[in-house]
Amino acid sequence: MSVSGSIPFFDLTRQYQESGESVRSAVSAVLVSQQFILGEGVKRFEAKISEYLGVSESIGVASGTDALLLLLRAAGVSSGDAILVPSFTFYASASAIRLAGGVPVWTETDPSLFLVTPRLLDEALTSMAVQNASGVWRTRVGGHPVKGVLVVHLYGQVADMRSIAEWAKFRDLWVVEDACQAIGGRFDGKSPGEFSVGAAYSFFPTKNLGGAGDGGLVTTKESSVAEHVRSLRVHGSRQRYIHEEIGYNSRLDAIQAAVLEAKLPHLAGWNERRRQIAARYTKSFSNQRTFDTPIVASMAESVFHQYTISFRQEGARDRVRESLSRDRIGSEIYYPVPQHRQEAFRDMPKGDLPITDRLSESVLSLPVFPELTDSEQDRVIESVLNAVSREEVSNG
Ligand SMILES: Cc1ncc(COP(=O)(O)O)c(C=O)c1O
Repeated sequence: MSVSGSIPFFDLTRQYQESGESVRSAVSAVLVSQQFILGEGVKRFEAKISEYLGVSESIGVASGTDALLLLLRAAGVSSGDAILVPSFTFYASASAIRLAGGVPVWTETDPSLFLVTPRLLDEALTSMAVQNASGVWRTRVGGHPVKGVLVVHLYGQVADMRSIAEWAKFRDLWVVEDACQAIGGRFDGKSPGEFSVGAAYSFFPTKNLGGAGDGGLVTTKESSVAEHVRSLRVHGSRQRYIHEEIGYNSRLDAIQAAVLEAKLPHLAGWNERRRQIAARYTKSFSNQRTFDTPIVASMAESVFHQYTISFRQEGARDRVRESLSRDRIGSEIYYPVPQHRQEAFRDMPKGDLPITDRLSESVLSLPVFPELTDSEQDRVIESVLNAVSREEVSNG
């Protein structure tokens, strides 16, 4: 890679150079078998990923969005149930709740962790809902019963699930986890799903473990939840041609399972490289005052799906991003429009979410993919620091 060339935000072709041969032969084995729907290949991948994550049950589905939807259905969401969810997340965390018939109740996000905490859940619950004499929380507007919490492990860091699970249990709420960005991440040594009904993962191509198309996974330690999700992914059927409920056609494709199985042995190394890049950014940025670097909680292990900084002054994010772009360095904003401001959720209970609004205007994600070279990272750091010194001069 030339030192003066452009630096992409992400480049999957480099990963393919490393893993391409094993991926091609895995795909070709599926073509030879002509077994495309579920079957031995999908089962083998599910067993291997269960072992890697240290979970008892893994169920491959068609996408991360479907993984959330099927998991929410298996958790028991029925029409009109309210679910607490952060607004500062990808759209699908909240759309899956609507697709399951539920109603999102927006929570704020801790601005240094980018995650929800028990305190923020409590604030959202007590400001948006009231408890009746029998202990049931109902939303102030609409009277929807609050049933559960959807925790999102944004940017690859797993939230404090132990405390969140305790908080939820005390209020008779269940918890599910959106781990789409956090495959391989842990809290207190445990993978998502340990302290909850289950976790949903995405194999979207740019995820830390990405397929050659869409794919997703539900993990759980509860065999009844696993059986329910297995049934929901094949039209709500446990026995051929017998349908107990309305389900979906949402299977992990056998070709995707083969691609993912071929890539899985690389995942630990890729995640480690992401952590190295993140640590190097944080060290290099320690002497500036224009933005905050991401914080990883002491018991959490992040897989740095994103390395995201947040700017202290209004407008600084966009000026620094323009400067990076002039230096031909890719960066992204995850996410510029929070979910409580989306047209799609206009009829949902409204929340006042100043931290979330502020985050949408201040965050910037820098290149953190495993194949980014040290010299490319040096250029990113130099470009960021140059832009920052201009900010600091103009602010006196
Ligand atoms: C936090 C989060 N939730 C849900 C999803 C949905 O996953 P998918 O694109 O596989 O449907 C994604 C990824 O796109 C995500 O980042």
